Amino acid sequence: MDSLTITRPDDWHLHLRDGAALTAVLHFTARQFARAIAMPNLRPPVTTAAQAVAYRERILAALPREGTGSGFQPLMTLYLTDNTTAEEIERAKAAGVVAVKLYPAGATTNSDAGVTDIRKTYAALEALQRQGMLLLVHGEVTEGEIDVFDREAVFIERVMQPLRADFPELKVVFEHITTKEAAEYVAGSCRHTAATVTPQHLLYNRNSIFMGGLRPHYYCLPVLKREVHRQALIRAATSGSPKFFLGTDSAPHAAQLKENSVCGAGCFTAPAALELYAEAFEAAGALDKLEAFASFYGPDFYGLSRNTGTVTLKREPWPLPETYPFGDATIKPLRAGETLNWRLQ
Ligand code: NCD
Ligand code: ZN
Repeated sequence: MDSLTITRPDDWHLHLRDGAALTAVLHFTARQFARAIAMPNLRPPVTTAAQAVAYRERILAALPREGTGSGFQPLMTLYLTDNTTAEEIERAKAAGVVAVKLYPAGATTNSDAGVTDIRKTYAALEALQRQGMLLLVHGEVTEGEIDVFDREAVFIERVMQPLRADFPELKVVFEHITTKEAAEYVAGSCRHTAATVTPQHLLYNRNSIFMGGLRPHYYCLPVLKREVHRQALIRAATSGSPKFFLGTDSAPHAAQLKENSVCGAGCFTAPAALELYAEAFEAAGALDKLEAFASFYGPDFYGLSRNTGTVTLKREPWPLPETYPFGDATIKPLRAGETLNWRLQ
């Protein structure tokens, strides 16, 4: 197969940032995807309905005026804190916000304002469940004594299982899953539980971070895991189960902040997101499963309509640029300077 036409996909987990960074990265997503879930971990975080509405306006203002990408629709989220009230959830619902993001405090980039104890958020979660809004979960515990590579598996026992038991009707997306444990947990749980899977976790295991030297552009959170986990994610994403769908977690950081003594977490995959997924699905002999993963299961789970247009990928080797402009800085995509085999037309 040298050409693949699929229904226009959506990105169910995306970091668009703000200001000049937003302008620099938004067009990459808008040309491929019809919609994307805009993560709320700005500085300061998007914690109120009014902030979410203002952020949506800034995203829309940064879109190309006409042509490809001009019709892109950002789907807004609120950043859950210990102090999020049920009233704020109701205002968010009325403003068209679709989901709330749970970051355990300190788990990842800009998560200082995150939740210190899930029980403090129960009034907000009850409101979410009542309003039919989704809870999106960064599934890692943050306790210092837990090994970084075990944080997702421990989160399942300590947080996910009690949360599911206490809110059986709440739609929960276990974001960017990275382990066999998470894939099995989601596959075996109720119909209100789903997961997003990133391209980097389908393509790479943790060796990639250390190949011939420390490679900051392969560092994201949750961190890449062993090969056995990558294989479990491939099986989940290509299984045809509607519980697993596309969420790039494209997380732009300026190159000088990645190539630094303290490297920010995040892989910038937006410039070739669909191409990277196609590569992973093809390597698994499952290109025929890409469309549902990328374009059907996400809107189905969110209760939104599927897109109507299409996109076409062609087998056509092309070099991914080394860098792109990023405000006053530059940014390096995952696989910078390498040849990709699929190309979005
Ligand atoms: C994300 C970011 O940079 O905002 N980083 C990442 O490694 N994925 C935050 C997140 O989703 O964890
Ligand atoms: Zn993310």
